[in-house]
Amino acid sequence: MTIIVTGGAGFIGSNFIFYTLKNHPKYRVICLDKLTYAGNLSTLKDVMDKPNFKFVKVDICDREAVYRLFESEKPDVVVNFAAESHVDRSIESPDVFLRTNIIGTSVLMDACRKYGIERFHQVSTDEVYGDLPIDRPDLFFTEETPLHTSSPYSSSKASADLLALAYHRTYGLPVTISRCSNNYGPYHFPEKLIPLMIANALNDKPLPVYGKGENIRDWLYVEDHCKAIDLILQKGRVGEVYNIGGHNEMRNIDIVKIILKELGKPESLITFVTDRKGHDLRYAIDPTKIHTELGWLPETKFADGIKKTIKWYLENRSWWEEIISGEYMDYYDKMYSNR
Ligand code: NAD
Ligand code: DAU
Repeated sequence: MTIIVTGGAGFIGSNFIFYTLKNHPKYRVICLDKLTYAGNLSTLKDVMDKPNFKFVKVDICDREAVYRLFESEKPDVVVNFAAESHVDRSIESPDVFLRTNIIGTSVLMDACRKYGIERFHQVSTDEVYGDLPIDRPDLFFTEETPLHTSSPYSSSKASADLLALAYHRTYGLPVTISRCSNNYGPYHFPEKLIPLMIANALNDKPLPVYGKGENIRDWLYVEDHCKAIDLILQKGRVGEVYNIGGHNEMRNIDIVKIILKELGKPESLITFVTDRKGHDLRYAIDPTKIHTELGWLPETKFADGIKKTIKWYLENRSWWEEIISGEYMDYYDKMYSNR
C-alpha cells in the first residue's frame, strides 16, 4: 500500500503521517508538500530516515510535477490535507486560497483519474456548513446540513467538496470526504487560537481575544481526527461525507482562561480586540454517522488533551520559537497592531 499524504508538513497532516507509520508499518508513506509558511520540514525530522517514508517538495497546483510523482510512485491512496487553512489570512488575501484549495484539489483528482487510484480522501472542515446560533444548543451540523459558507477560506473548502463529489458522480472516482471540527495538539501553527495563546502567555504578551470571546468552537484532539480518517480509508463508503467531532463545545474566552491557569499566568494578559469580519458564532458537529457506521469515538478528553498540548509546547519551545521569530512577526504586526 502506497499512500500520498499532501500537506504532511503542516499540523494535521504531520500528525496523520505519524499515526499511519505507527499503525500501518507496512505502508509506504509519501509526503507531498509545497512548504508554504505553514509547512515545516523539522516537524518530520523523526520519520525522515524511515525506509518507508519519503518527502517531496511539490505544489499541488503544479500539474506536471504532480503527474510525474503519480507516475513514478503509483499511489493506491491519496489523502489531501494540503490547503491554505487560516480564516484571517483568507479575509486579507483570498486568491491563494482559491488556487490551492480548489484548483490544487482538482489537479490531484485529475492525477488520480489518469493514473488510477483506490481512494482519494478530501480532508474538509465543519466550516463549510457556516455557523449555528449561540442560543440554540439543540442544533448541530449533520452531513445533510446545507453548505452555507462565511469566509473565503470556508468557501474554497466547500468548492473543493463539491468538486470531489462531482468527480465521484461524473467519473466514478472513489472519493470520500471528512468534515472535522477544530483540532488542537502538537505542531499546531502558532497563528491559530490555542498555540497563539500558549506562546503569547509564555512570553508575557497580550492575548488578543476577538470580540467578546463568546464564539464557540467544538474542539477535538488531533490524534482522534487522524484515527477517524484512517477508519474512513479502511471502512468508509465511497461517495460519502463523514462529519468528525467529539461534542466538546467551548467558548474562546474559557479556552484562553484554561491556558492561563495551566501556565500560572494572570488573566490581565487577556486583551479584547476588534472582531474577525464575518466571524462564525458557533460550530457543533453531530458525529452520529461515523460513530454508528464505522464505530469511531474520540478517545482524548479535552481536560487531558489541553494539558498534553501545553506540555508539548513547553517541551518543544525551539519548534515554535523558530517560527515566531521569522516572517511570522510581520504577519503578527499586520494582523494585531492597531486592532
Ligand atoms: P496547516 O496550515 O497547518 O498545513 C497545511 C499544509 O499544506 C502545510 O504543510 C503547507 O505547506 C501545505 N500546503 C499549502 N499549500 C500547498 C500547496 N499548494 N501544495 C502543497 N502543499 C501545500 O493546516 P492544518 O490545520 O494541518 O489543516 C490541514 C487540512 O485540514 C486543511 O485542508 C484544513 O482545511 C483541514 N482542517 C483543519 C482543521 C483544523 O482545526 N486545523 C479542522 C478541520 C479541517
Ligand atoms: O472548524 C475547523 C476550522 O478550525 C478549520 O477548518 C480551520 O482550518 C482552522 O483554522 C479552524 O478555524 P477557526 O477560525 O475556528 O480557528 P482559529 O484558531 O483561527 O480561531 C478559533 C477561534 O478563536 C475563532 O472564534 C476566532 C478566535 N480567535 C482566533 C485568533 C487567531 C481569537 O479570538 N483570537 C485570535 O488571535
